[in-house]
Amino acid sequence: MLGAAALAAVGCATARPRLSEPVRWAWTGGVTSTTANVVARVEGAEAVALVVRAELDAATDRGARVTATPAGDDTFRFALSGLEPDRRYTLRLEADAEAVWTGALRTPVEDRPLSFAFVAGSCAQTGSAHEVFETMKRHDPRVFVHLGDLHYEDIDEDAPARFSAAYDLVLTSPTQSSLMSEVPVAYVWDDHDFGRNNSDRTSTSKRAALDAYRKHVPSHALVEDHAIYHAFTIGRVRFLMTDCRSQRTPRGVAHRYRTMLGKKQKAWLKQELLDSKGRYPLVVWVSPVGWIGRTLDDDSWPGYPSERVELSLFLAEHGIDNVLMLAGDAHMLAIDDGTNNRYANNGRAGFPVFHVAALDQVGSEKGGPYSHGVRIGRGQYGLIEIDDRVHEVTVRLTGRDAEDAVLIEHTFVLPG
Ligand SMILES: [Fe+2]
Repeated sequence: MLGAAALAAVGCATARPRLSEPVRWAWTGGVTSTTANVVARVEGAEAVALVVRAELDAATDRGARVTATPAGDDTFRFALSGLEPDRRYTLRLEADAEAVWTGALRTPVEDRPLSFAFVAGSCAQTGSAHEVFETMKRHDPRVFVHLGDLHYEDIDEDAPARFSAAYDLVLTSPTQSSLMSEVPVAYVWDDHDFGRNNSDRTSTSKRAALDAYRKHVPSHALVEDHAIYHAFTIGRVRFLMTDCRSQRTPRGVAHRYRTMLGKKQKAWLKQELLDSKGRYPLVVWVSPVGWIGRTLDDDSWPGYPSERVELSLFLAEHGIDNVLMLAGDAHMLAIDDGTNNRYANNGRAGFPVFHVAALDQVGSEKGGPYSHGVRIGRGQYGLIEIDDRVHEVTVRLTGRDAEDAVLIEHTFVLPG
């Protein structure tokens, strides 16, 4: 948890908070069966260290001290290695020998059956202290998949300091920091946290956004320097986190020449999907923007119709039928079981799509139709429960509110 001073500096859920105390935050991500990353900001300290201790050995183990790699502006990156699969660890951040943050992490197994739950969501006003983050934490999820709009600063200039300040405001929120101190994050941006509303690869903030992500986010290894897409595995579920902003062509370009992903990312995605066939019962394709819809000038996939058809055909031609898409952007919960996802030319039903928003934003509706309905609103998130019985994998999707009431749901079974 953060120190009382940092907590006191954060405003309520509706006001835009400003910080006046020294900033101290940390979050965890990039977790594999043996490695993890922690990034922290500790202002005004001379020596910063992270103590990592296996929970089972807490009484006897004095813990391993991990040295920080300074990233500038009081930001420190820690690369943890040599962890054991499927184990819980406690983390203690020390600044000048004083504990300033404690956290926890749990490593998964990879490429072996594991039943687990994870949470997903997007779109929270800058520095939101909404209770929905506490609700998500109560499920003890393996990961918090954040599909963007981490903040709404709409930065439209090459201003690294503004991105840095935005991370401070998010990560010192009492409820967000509480969740992120114990649940690793896997985050890709959408428009408001990459640039301005509906931004694309021409955004004037692109370089600053990319640099700030690399500096502040404890992500898994990024595939290339000029984008943030990446992949990771929990149990026998492969997560493909796509970057739908930094590579996309502007919407002014003719439909057939538009790309959402860019050439390199699209080739990577196709290869990942091919490689997953027969290896992973489930692939979770994380697309910050929605897939289903008809409006050609949409900011989401409907506005990039040629590439949507190309990818749909690719899946159909290769018989890849283990995909679940998670999407954000629209401030709603929505589920389609594949019925309305028919963009391959043979017209068969495609993969299921689950919209998981809005964490803390006024509701909005986009795209559709969705076979299992739509719930527009604030304080909403998605819980995904994976029951891996080796020969078959049951996937339960529930869209929930901040009181954890189930508003929308769908369960499907895949061959193991
Ligand atoms: Fe949003």
